[in-house]
Parts: sequence; C-alpha cells; structure tokens
Amino acid sequence: MTEATTYTAVDRYIDEKLAPHDDALGACVRASAEAGLRPIAVTPSQGKLLHLLALSVCATRILEIGTLGGYSAIWLARALPAGGRLVTLDVDPKAAEVARANVDRAGVGDRVEIRLGLAMGSLDALAREGAGPFDLVFIDANKDDSLPYFERALAMSRPGTLLVVDNVVRAGRILDAASTDPDIVGLRRLFDWLATEPRVDVTAFQTVGEKHHDGMIIARVR
Ligand code: DHB
Ligand code: MG
Repeated sequence: MTEATTYTAVDRYIDEKLAPHDDALGACVRASAEAGLRPIAVTPSQGKLLHLLALSVCATRILEIGTLGGYSAIWLARALPAGGRLVTLDVDPKAAEVARANVDRAGVGDRVEIRLGLAMGSLDALAREGAGPFDLVFIDANKDDSLPYFERALAMSRPGTLLVVDNVVRAGRILDAASTDPDIVGLRRLFDWLATEPRVDVTAFQTVGEKHHDGMIIARVR
C-alpha cells in the first residue's frame, strides 16, 4: 500500500467503526452526487468531529458558511437539542434545494435554516438582525474570503464560541508565500491575522485520508 492508500483505508476503518452512516446520511451523499454537486463534503469522521464539538459546547445556535448538500449540516444539527437552531449559508440554489431535502430526510429540518445568497451578504444580514451569539461556527465555503468570513463570524460569537475552518492546508500549498491562487492568498491572510489576534485561542491541524492532505483551523473565543 502507498501511504495515501493506507490513509484512506484507515479513514474508512474509522468511519465504519465510529462514524457509520445511517440511511439519511447515506441518502444525503447519494442525492448530492446525483444532483451533480462536487464530492467535497467533510468525511464521516470529520462530520462526527463537528458533531462532538457541537455537543461539547452544548451548542444551541450553530452557524455554517457553505452548505453544499447539507452533509455537515446533518451532523451538526443532530447535536442540537430540541429548539436548537442551525443557520447555513450557500450561494448555489441547486445545493440549497438538495440540502433542504437531505436535512428534512434526516429528521432535522425543523432545526435548520438554509439561507440562499452570497455568504457575505447573508452574514451582514444576520448581524443586522441581531442573530447569535452562535456557539459554534463552521466555515467551509470559498476559501478566498476566509478572513472576512471569520471576522464576521467572530462578531456574532461569545466567549467560548468555537470557530472551525475547513481546508486550510490544501496538500501543503498553504506554505507557498508566493502563491497567486486566491484561495491560498485568502487562507494565508487568515493565518497571518490569527497569529496576532488577541480575541481567540487558536490552532490548526492536518488531516489525511479520504479528503487527501488538508487540515482545519479551530479557534475558541476568549
Ligand atoms: C474544496 C472545497 C472544500 O470545502 C473541500 O472540503 C474540499 C475541496 C475545493 O474547493 O476544492
Ligand atoms: Mg471543505
């Protein structure tokens, strides 16, 4: 086995043992693929991690930036108590439609609001409406705007809020200070800003496996 094959096999082992799909999660993956959405949702064990983080902070209000087919939304929403709320943002009407059906099928439709539109506009609207404070925020949309998304999410946080950012390593491309790729530029801007931001305790970790070599930032508001 190559290293990459081993990483993927171990991911499958962990997924099957500790983050197995029920019918609704399996149907979510199938419906998302059938609708032509890109297969870039978090893995089962990453979904389970988001679920555990939400449980750990006893989240009742969750914000997600980047809905896609609603796969991570299902994991997150299933950590919410009755009356809890997940607001998830996406610009793609097709994704929003598929996600709506997926979260409804998973039995968490009553807890999930899907907002269609550019995330920046939706975030500003949420702020104007006095939304939050959110207990957990998962940022998993276009990477070039990672910093403005983080700043807006932080403004709707409270001490103890967790902010998680997906895809911050990009197979090591994060190291390329000379990159002109807007995603890398945006992610490096976020790292630079976080390095001196006094309002959060923060780290990042690398991930390997089904989603290849990537990573997440995790921050806790002071
Ligand atoms: C991409 C985006 C994601 O959110 C992800 O988890 C994997 C890949 C991408 O744009 O390539
Ligand atoms: Mg992602």
